[in-house]
Amino acid sequence: MSSSIASPLSFRPLQEAHFSLLLAWLTAAHVQQWWGSDVRTIEHVVAKYLPRLSDDSLVRCFIVFQAEQPIAYIQAYWLADFPDYSKQLPLADLTGVASLDVFIGEQPLLGKGIGTALVRLFLRDVVFGLMRAESCVVGPAVDNVGAIRAYERAGFSKVAVVSVEGAPTAECIMQAKP
Ligand SMILES: CC(C)(COP(=O)(O)OP(=O)(O)OC[C@H]1O[C@@H](n2cnc3c(N)ncnc32)[C@H](O)[C@@H]1OP(=O)(O)O)[C@@H](O)C(=O)NCCC(=O)NCCS
Repeated sequence: MSSSIASPLSFRPLQEAHFSLLLAWLTAAHVQQWWGSDVRTIEHVVAKYLPRLSDDSLVRCFIVFQAEQPIAYIQAYWLADFPDYSKQLPLADLTGVASLDVFIGEQPLLGKGIGTALVRLFLRDVVFGLMRAESCVVGPAVDNVGAIRAYERAGFSKVAVVSVEGAPTAECIMQAKP
């Protein structure tokens, strides 16, 4: 599928004003299927995401806008800050290795090339730009064929398949470099 994104994409730091939208997205079936969040109420959103608004949060959270419409959520962090997870990955050195997680909240926008475009832009502007990461690693479930394909098209290559503690299926570990 060729990706022709009609309107420009931009990233705006998550704010409290986005919380009700975030709740609607996190509880939508197409996000639940792959994101596996236990957030079910606005109180859950506040408890989990309010601390992430602070400058010293380990996770940098953004709402993705297409022109003026919020359409997706994306977050980035250093893998070394999450050793319980990262120690399970086949990576010798975590220095400068970032990770990201993403979902498109608006279901009708899936499968139109937007995920590919926004991940590519986020790598350039945030992960390799703002954070100056040396590489970025993602771990979609092996059966999340759409995400794996979108990550590949955005510049990631498959590195390994890993069984991660607590995850229902194995993860396809993928890496991108600037
Ligand atoms: C993952 C996600 C961000 C990708 O964004 P997207 O805009 O849907 O993806 P794109 O349209 O850019 O690319 C998807 C690719 O996978 C393909 N694809 C999608 N579903 C597929 C499936 N079930 N089987 C095979 N290929 C599939 C599409 O055809 C497209 O490839 P192509 O352009 O070569 O044809 C989005 O689908 C999403 O938010 N999914 C729910 C949450 C999620 O899975 N997040 C990632 C967790 S790791």
